Amino acid sequence: MEVLAPTADQLARAAARLRAGEVVAIPTETVYGLAGAAFDERALARIFAAKDRPTFDPLIVHVLELDAPGVVGPLAPRQRAAAERLARAHWPGPLTLVLPRGPRVPDLATAGLPTVAVRSPRHPVARALVAAVGPLAAPSANRFGRISPTSAADVVAELGDRVELVVDGGPCAVGLESTIVAVGEDGELTLLRPGGVAVEARPGGPEVRAPGMLPSHYAPHKPLVFLGASAPAGRVALLAFDPATAARVAAVRTEVLGLDLEAAARRLFAALRALDACDADVIVAEPCPSRAGLGHAIADRLERAAHGK
Ligand code: TXA
Ligand code: MG
Repeated sequence: MEVLAPTADQLARAAARLRAGEVVAIPTETVYGLAGAAFDERALARIFAAKDRPTFDPLIVHVLELDAPGVVGPLAPRQRAAAERLARAHWPGPLTLVLPRGPRVPDLATAGLPTVAVRSPRHPVARALVAAVGPLAAPSANRFGRISPTSAADVVAELGDRVELVVDGGPCAVGLESTIVAVGEDGELTLLRPGGVAVEARPGGPEVRAPGMLPSHYAPHKPLVFLGASAPAGRVALLAFDPATAARVAAVRTEVLGLDLEAAARRLFAALRALDACDADVIVAEPCPSRAGLGHAIADRLERAAHGK
């Protein structure tokens, strides 16, 4: 895999590849994405193949604005009002809206659903490439079920033997995937995935989920357990929020995220990767100290990383 600097020349190269139906890994403010032209079925097929992603799990389409031609279908009046209000408040940024699908979006992008997930990213490289190529479908640039990449080096570790180009846009400013909210016909909101922006959502029932929200996700190779009364067997790699926790638990390697949850979110996935790579048998994670703000999304990621371990 070749790592491209985000210069005008290199972005032109990346854009040319995308226009030709190839995939390119790109930075966004949440996590790195594996991008392909959203209306091009060959590109979409390449995304699924590179990630080993099952085709029941639909992709997010990255746009500059809600009215990008052909992406979102006709909206009911209250649905439009709600979508526009959320887009005004949070775009560009880490919020994905699930809305009726427009005519140009292939089945493969939506897994055959009548809806499409859309988001307007904030990262200047992602925006420049969408401006140059048109809407880009991009899931996180990790192998299916694994830890999302928050740097170009992480992308190389995940997909280096499968994808030819990654544009290096620096470390991700948010570090967690976008919040996903479905907007219903009457403008009712359902939270499908907690993420980089804390949003109010009406209770949608626990069964409502994005199709890709599997119980096991963000999985390190090592088992991950939560810090509890009894010490796990084996050499421990510790993921702590509170420096005081780090000071009292003996570990082969410790990553301290800190108690500021925005900073913790930014570092979470890189810390998990580092602990997964170190010489320990088990990752022990301190539970997220709060569910407020980004705490909901951080706790969600850790629970999925621990699932089935
Ligand atoms: O921050 C992000 O959202 C990153 C960056 C690259 O934009 N992307 C990302 O994509 O996290 P991915 O593919 O890892 O997660 C997309 C999620 C999946 O859980 C998928 O099931 C859900 O979005 N999704 C996509 N289309 C949907 C739809 N029509 N209805 C419900 N959920 C949908
Ligand atoms: Mg993902």
